[in-house]
Amino acid sequence: MSLAPIKATRLLAASLCLWLTGTAVAPRVQAEETLRPATSFAAIEDPAERSRALFMEAAKVLTHPRCVNCHPSGDRPLKHDGEILHYPPVERGADGHGVVGMQCQTCHHSSNFEPAGVPGAPHWHLAPRSMAWEGLSPGEICRQVKDRQRNGDKDLAAIVKHMSEDSLVLWAWEPGSDREPAPGNAKDFAQLIVAWAETGAECPP
Ligand code: HEC
Ligand code: HEC
Repeated sequence: MSLAPIKATRLLAASLCLWLTGTAVAPRVQAEETLRPATSFAAIEDPAERSRALFMEAAKVLTHPRCVNCHPSGDRPLKHDGEILHYPPVERGADGHGVVGMQCQTCHHSSNFEPAGVPGAPHWHLAPRSMAWEGLSPGEICRQVKDRQRNGDKDLAAIVKHMSEDSLVLWAWEPGSDREPAPGNAKDFAQLIVAWAETGAECPP
């Protein structure tokens, strides 16, 4: 018996998966679970080029659903890995904490609630529209994150601090339930961002 039909079926299944995942709302840089450490970029001599390469590596995290689900372009948070709309239907409200009667804190507490699979971390709320990343390329996210008109008037040091310490950022590596954590770990991610800032915080095209 020839193996060809089996191979063909596998190929078909694989391309179907690719097609299905390819239709996700926000383009993910790479579906990899690891992050290269910042030190592994030392061989790139030109600081600007190194800076862009560091940001591209960090973008594996930035474009991951654990981040993008809270940085949507619409008024509703997203969930799961296909970045589908949040159900129950909640809206951002005036300050990202939800509308009266449907505040995020009603369901989301300061830590994950495993019995019901509800994620949680201190100050759980939606990033403002000006900080929407859904559908953006790494270069676009990079320029937006540096733009003080859009990033909550944060200078570069504040951005680095936020990405290293913020409770909602750190949650992405301990998302609870069966959610896939963001790639790598929080420390490697923070070091990539520090090294990116130190090399001039250059953005990919
Ligand atoms: C009535 C309860 C309720 C309210 C109110 C609520 N949520 Fe949720 N939220 C949930 C539940 C339950 C889940 C888990 C759903 C699942 O995993 O299928 C969830 C999941 C999420 C996720 C998905 C995390 C991930 O990456 O998978 C995000 C983001 C989120 N909520 C943000 C918010 C924000 C922001 C608000 C306020 C504007 C809010 N939620 C209000 C119940 C609620
Ligand atoms: C539960 C929702 C939530 C999750 C999850 C989340 N964020 Fe945010 N993010 C916010 C909110 C709300 C703000 C605005 C409040 C603030 O500036 O402190 C914000 C702001 C930011 C900012 C400020 C600058 C800007 O232009 O966006 C950065 C950087 C950021 N988040 C990075 C991340 C990264 C990286 C991840 C994933 C590892 C992540 N966030 C996951 C809610 C979230």
